[in-house]
This record gives sequence, C-alpha cells and structure tokens, in this order.
Amino acid sequence: MEQSARPLPHALPSSFETARLSVRRYRPEDASWYAPMSLQNQAHLARFESGNPVMGIETEADAASVIQGFIESWDACSAFFLGAFRKDTGVFVAQIYIGVVSWDLPELELGYFAAATHTRQGFVTEAAQGALRFCFRELGAHRVRLECDDTNIASYRVAERCGMVREGHLRENHLHAGGALTGTLLYGILRHEFD
Ligand SMILES: CC(C)(COP(=O)(O)OP(=O)(O)OC[C@H]1O[C@@H](n2cnc3c(N)ncnc32)[C@H](O)[C@@H]1OP(=O)(O)O)[C@@H](O)C(=O)NCCC(=O)NCCS
Repeated sequence: MEQSARPLPHALPSSFETARLSVRRYRPEDASWYAPMSLQNQAHLARFESGNPVMGIETEADAASVIQGFIESWDACSAFFLGAFRKDTGVFVAQIYIGVVSWDLPELELGYFAAATHTRQGFVTEAAQGALRFCFRELGAHRVRLECDDTNIASYRVAERCGMVREGHLRENHLHAGGALTGTLLYGILRHEFD
C-alpha cells in the first residue's frame, strides 16, 4: 500500500451524513469508548479482520495510541479512518477505512466493519455508499478497490450493494490459523460507474 502523502487542493471535510448516520473522522476523546468497543468486537472481527488495529487494543491507552495514529494518517492524507454513528442514538455502528493505493490515478481502497450489535440493518452498506461518495467527490478518486475473503459473504454483499464490480478471484491464497485455505475476491468501481 502506497503511503505517500498528497496535499489535497481543498480543505477536506471531517464528516459526512447519510440518511441514518453521522460519519466522521476520529478525535482524541474517542479513546474512552473505543477501548471497550474494541474488546466487545474482537471475537466478531477475529476471522476476517485479524490485522485490524482494533485487535491489539486492551486498554484506553492502547485505544488512544491507535486513534492518534488514525489522526496522523488523516492529516498526512495517507489513510482515512471514519466512525459511523446512528443519528438517533449517537451509538457507534461501524468503522470505515479508506486507504491510498496511489495518488497518481488516484486509486483508493475501501474497508469496513460493523459493531457486532449493529449487523444486518444496512448500516455498513449505507456508510460504505457515503464513503464511496467521499472518495470520488472529496478525494478525487478515479477508482476504488476492495479485497475480501471469498468466504466472507456478508462483506462482498455490501460491496455488491454499493455497485462494486467483481474484477478477480485469487484462489486459495490465504492460510488461516488452523489450516483452512481461502481465496480473495477483488472488487472495484470507477468514477463514471459511481456517477
Ligand atoms: C462484513 C460486515 C461489515 C457486513 O455487515 P452487514 O451487517 O451484513 O452489512 P449491512 O450493515 O450493510 O447490513 C446488510 C444486511 O442488512 C439487511 N437490512 C436489514 N434492514 C435493512 C435496512 N433498513 N436497509 C438496508 N439493509 C437492511 C440487508 O438485507 C442485509 O442483509 P443480507 O445481506 O442478508 O441481504 C460484517 O459482517 C462485519 O463486520 N464482519 C466482520 C468484519 C469484516 O468481515 N469486515 C470486512 C472485511 S473485507
């Protein structure tokens, strides 16, 4: 993943809204709820998000350090982590990750997870659609890609509901702890397809 920073030609909004959600970049004060949220979701995220920063969080200090990293990568335009919160209750429902593949095209990468308490209600699809709009309109993306395990049906259904096109399938390229082999599905969407 390319980490080169590129200053954007305009000030980047720090949030956006969808019908049911407020989606925003993280702030230092988020550490207090991010730590218990991480602990509550680690079992739910273990199979398909083993490398997610959430997986290493045990204390509020750990969460503060992870959130500081999110803030620095946003400021450097090298990755954009956003929390999605229900407008009616303010409760955290999902995290969105926008990675930078290349600023030359530009090509970005989308990732997400739902809070285990808020799956199967369409919140991730709604936040991901908003994130794609953010990628194309605010970050100037030409294409956005997404990779997911080929057994992660819930994840690729989100991508497909967002209009992403299945562009490839790497077969049996991932060895899980315990010995299972799975493949990787590659999705992408171009600016004109989103428009
Ligand atoms: C992948 C993951 C984010 C998908 O979450 P999800 O809850 O299935 O996705 P959504 O929030 O978009 O909800 C979609 C489901 O809600 C249903 N739904 C219920 N009410 C809805 C509403 N009002 N609007 C839209 N959809 C609604 C949809 O029909 C859909 O179910 P279906 O797939 O059976 O048709 C979640 O399973 C997760 O966090 N997994 C662990 C981490 C992970 O795998 N991340 C991705 C790595 S690539």
